[in-house]
Amino acid sequence: MGRIAYVNGRFVPHSEAVVHIEDRGYQLADAVYEVWALFDGKLADAEGHFARLERSLGELSIPMPMTRVALTLVLKEAVRRNRVREGSIYLQVSRGVAPRQHAYPSDPLRPAVIMTVSRVDRVADELRAAKGVSVLTVPENRWGRADIKTVGLLPNAMAKQKAKEAGAMEAWFVDDLGFVTEGASSNAWIVDSDGRLRTRDTNANILRGITRHTLLKIIGREDLPVDERPFTPAEAIAAKEAFITGAGSLVLPVIAVDGKPVGEGSPGPVATRLRRLYIEQAKAAAI
Ligand code: PDD
Repeated sequence: MGRIAYVNGRFVPHSEAVVHIEDRGYQLADAVYEVWALFDGKLADAEGHFARLERSLGELSIPMPMTRVALTLVLKEAVRRNRVREGSIYLQVSRGVAPRQHAYPSDPLRPAVIMTVSRVDRVADELRAAKGVSVLTVPENRWGRADIKTVGLLPNAMAKQKAKEAGAMEAWFVDDLGFVTEGASSNAWIVDSDGRLRTRDTNANILRGITRHTLLKIIGREDLPVDERPFTPAEAIAAKEAFITGAGSLVLPVIAVDGKPVGEGSPGPVATRLRRLYIEQAKAAAI
């Protein structure tokens, strides 16, 4: 008998189990999961895993997809249908399906729920346990590889949501030393109080934005003063102008940071001109 998966209210053959391409779990890692060990077909540490599931969902403001009682019934039914006694059951709950944007959709979504059941060879497991295993140490860099354009965007989505709730369009991440790294979906720039363009250098933990790169070339061609060095939020507020760059935002003037106006509190001449120059150049070179 083949494996059976649970997808959004239906039990389906494992090989035919699919989720929507715009599931936020798939596109933004906007999802949580739990794994229960199965002993004799029963869920181990059930209470602990349910409590953590509810906590994880709560932290992301994702509603429980069904009551604990209902969820337990479905989990047990998945185990039963797979005829697994020794193994584990995987549950994933994503925020749901919506057109891709980082912040949580304003209209409530129906969380997407999937379950898979795996068999474990407890005899082999015990042999391994009797021998013991070895480990390798690695640097603690989780969420620390912002240079990779990964879909692991949950921190970005959470930041964007925070910005949205504060009435802002973008969030700027600030590092341990108090310097802006980049935006949740863009690179960050200022025209500092000396009139010099400034953006974070790419040795920092940021995405090497393509728009940023093209704009640096335009800035060089225009012979404008530019420094690839960090700035603080206070320097941004004291700056003449600020803006963000990205394939979505292109070159977009920023008029306020943390509720405080930047410069005149309206789009400045440098950002406005760079936006025009970028769009001209991008249009001309588009293939
Ligand atoms: N975001 N930094 C982050 C974290 C980004 O997600 C992006 C782009 C950028 C700018 O990179 P580029 O200039 O190559 O687009 C910087 C895209 C637009 C997005 O997630 O929708």
